[in-house]
Amino acid sequence: MHACGRRQKLESDQAKQQPVLALRQVSWELLFFFSETTFCKMLEGSDSGIGHALAKHLDNLGFVVFAGVLNKEGPGAEALKRSCSQRLSVLQLDITNPTQIREAYLAVSEKVQNAGLWGIINNAGVLGFAADGELLPMSAYRQCMDVNFFGAVEVSKMFLPLLRKSQGRLVNMSSMAGGVPMPRLAAYGASKAALSMFSGVMRQELSKWGIKVAVVHPSGFRTCIQGTPELWDKQEKHLMENLMPDVKTDYGEDYILALKNFLLHMPSSCGSDLSPLLDDVLDALLAKSPHGLYTPGKNAYLALCIFCYFPLWFYDFFIGKSLCVKILPRALRGPESKSKNT
Ligand SMILES: NC(=O)c1ccc[n+]([C@@H]2O[C@H](COP(=O)([O-])OP(=O)(O)OC[C@H]3O[C@@H](n4cnc5c(N)ncnc54)[C@H](OP(=O)(O)O)[C@@H]3O)[C@@H](O)[C@H]2O)c1
Repeated sequence: MHACGRRQKLESDQAKQQPVLALRQVSWELLFFFSETTFCKMLEGSDSGIGHALAKHLDNLGFVVFAGVLNKEGPGAEALKRSCSQRLSVLQLDITNPTQIREAYLAVSEKVQNAGLWGIINNAGVLGFAADGELLPMSAYRQCMDVNFFGAVEVSKMFLPLLRKSQGRLVNMSSMAGGVPMPRLAAYGASKAALSMFSGVMRQELSKWGIKVAVVHPSGFRTCIQGTPELWDKQEKHLMENLMPDVKTDYGEDYILALKNFLLHMPSSCGSDLSPLLDDVLDALLAKSPHGLYTPGKNAYLALCIFCYFPLWFYDFFIGKSLCVKILPRALRGPESKSKNT
């Protein structure tokens, strides 16, 4: 939380450009490695969205990129192979699968040999269904923790020996929801908060090895993270099936069925230009003195400041207004609107 006080101005363009120019021969992704002539990075979750854009961006800049993907035969992986240079390698990597993490490690270490890896970007993540924390099934909490937290921790632990050789960079893609509480994101936010705390502790511990660690807390960027109507129907059905009858009655079926509107309307409040996010990740990877925390996107820094420096009631009011949740649970409505909805 003290991080907002520490957030400084980003490095000048010059500071960002210099390492890039020096690294024309280099590659990077979820894993990077570094030698005198080569700078490699490794990035997971590159099938789509931010990871996909990052992989392309870094490849364009001349890095050697190892892009971990959930499905090596999927359209995202195929698009990366088609549109990127031969420096980029696509690796099969489900970050919840220890065998695949080990295989990715072996593939990367064989390629980088003694050079080490310059960067690891833990990007893969899932949002899951957005609903009141009381309604979310335990499986939603577990899935968020498995991917967003345990997966990133296991990948970091596996690849850190390569980063220590290069005194490189670890970049963790957390979320604004990992730094400030946001209604309907209890599972996602808690898993990202765990990732952010992990990043902070790793930053402190790894500095003695010369490794710099940054965590990124983006606000909304337009990607496919919200899922599809088919997925929401499945998640909604699962949620309904796991609710205790009295909880279902108190919240009301109409309230529960309206939950998915949050995900439906999410893209309209998200920025479509990913460049602030890409710039921040690049800064975290290349700046001589990167920040420990980056907050790209609309209101990401503002919300954190309000949360840190204002009374909690004011923060709750601000975030409630920003997310604008209109419908009340059935048991909290006046008798008139209750009868209308029964
Ligand atoms: N978009 C935003 O507004 C926003 C805001 C804050 C933070 N973030 C964070 O940014 C990161 C990227 O999100 P995004 O917006 O680009 O969403 P996205 O398009 O859904 O990308 C997430 C990526 O993670 C992959 N993935 C999911 N589970 C995985 C697993 N078990 N192993 C390996 N890869 C896995 C997905 O693969 P498939 O495509 O094959 O499912 C996808 O490529 C996430 O960590 C997210 O939490 C995003």
